[in-house]
Amino acid sequence: MAGVTDPIFRTLCKAEGADVMVTEFVSAEGVLQAWSRNRRYVEFEDAHRPLGIQIFGSVPEHCAAAARIIVDAMQPDFLDINAGCPVPKVVGKNGGSSLLKDLPLLQRIAAAVVQELGTDCPVTTKIRIGWDQEHICAPEAVRRLEDAGVQAIAIHGRTRSQQYGGRADWEMIDRCARLVHIPVIGNGDICTPQDVQRARETTAVSAVMIGRAAMNAPWLFRQAKEYLCTGVVPEPPAAPERLDFMLRHTRMAIESGHYGDELVTMRAMRSRLLAYAKGIPGTKPLRPRLSRVASYAELTSILDEVRV
Ligand SMILES: Cc1cc2nc3c(=O)[nH]c(=O)nc-3n(C[C@H](O)[C@H](O)[C@H](O)COP(=O)(O)O)c2cc1C
Repeated sequence: MAGVTDPIFRTLCKAEGADVMVTEFVSAEGVLQAWSRNRRYVEFEDAHRPLGIQIFGSVPEHCAAAARIIVDAMQPDFLDINAGCPVPKVVGKNGGSSLLKDLPLLQRIAAAVVQELGTDCPVTTKIRIGWDQEHICAPEAVRRLEDAGVQAIAIHGRTRSQQYGGRADWEMIDRCARLVHIPVIGNGDICTPQDVQRARETTAVSAVMIGRAAMNAPWLFRQAKEYLCTGVVPEPPAAPERLDFMLRHTRMAIESGHYGDELVTMRAMRSRLLAYAKGIPGTKPLRPRLSRVASYAELTSILDEVRV
């Protein structure tokens, strides 16, 4: 997730039980024009494996060339093509979910990347179910992607028009999973361990992908795995542990220098801190201050107000 799944967050999610993770996405054109500047979006540590690097683009040859640069430099466990992003900046360049309006192009992109990488790195793709309700195309898209040689497909069960609203259509995800012989990973609205169990029991997906819920509860991965093993839903961490988690994430981000100095890091952390705070009683009045927090010391004193 762009702006979210940076290396620090991935380290935390791994510790919380995430099995497979994907980097923030990087533009194929950006890789070709300024790899050294764009590389930071897809950096990872060996401890994050198995890990995929996600690219977006609209020109098959460029996507293939970018994939080659990435795979040679980083050796990810798989290379993922984004055909789901709804944001105008990406769609305006005919990338992300705009590929759902041109499935032959999506297929050519996937085939070009598969051909370029050969046996060096598996290729996967992430799609939405269609551009809008009148143009649901996931069944055709998964068939074309399988033909192109991709090895797994993640489906977010919403259309581009829905953005992140409404409910994910798991019936459509299930239908697509039954149409192809490669693994389909279901995505959309997985927020609890029971949601994971339900997807496994009622659909043909091979795995589930968790997005936004991990942003305020990264321990969901661990909880879900425990629930699948024991049938008992583990208690979420109590408020003091969640506050400590916010501080730990922030400390790690500052120490890593990934975003720059402390102030720049705190700016990058604000939305993350607000997401974590959502589930913690007593934090509502603190939200305006969290959205402006400028140092670790200030964060500590804000959070101390909830502890007492
Ligand atoms: C802030 C944000 C950034 C995202 N960035 C990406 C991205 O770069 N690549 C991608 O495939 N999906 C991205 N997504 C979509 C999520 O991966 C996921 O498909 C979507 O949120 C639905 O799953 P959920 O209901 O579990 O959140 C992003 C979502 C959010 C909220």
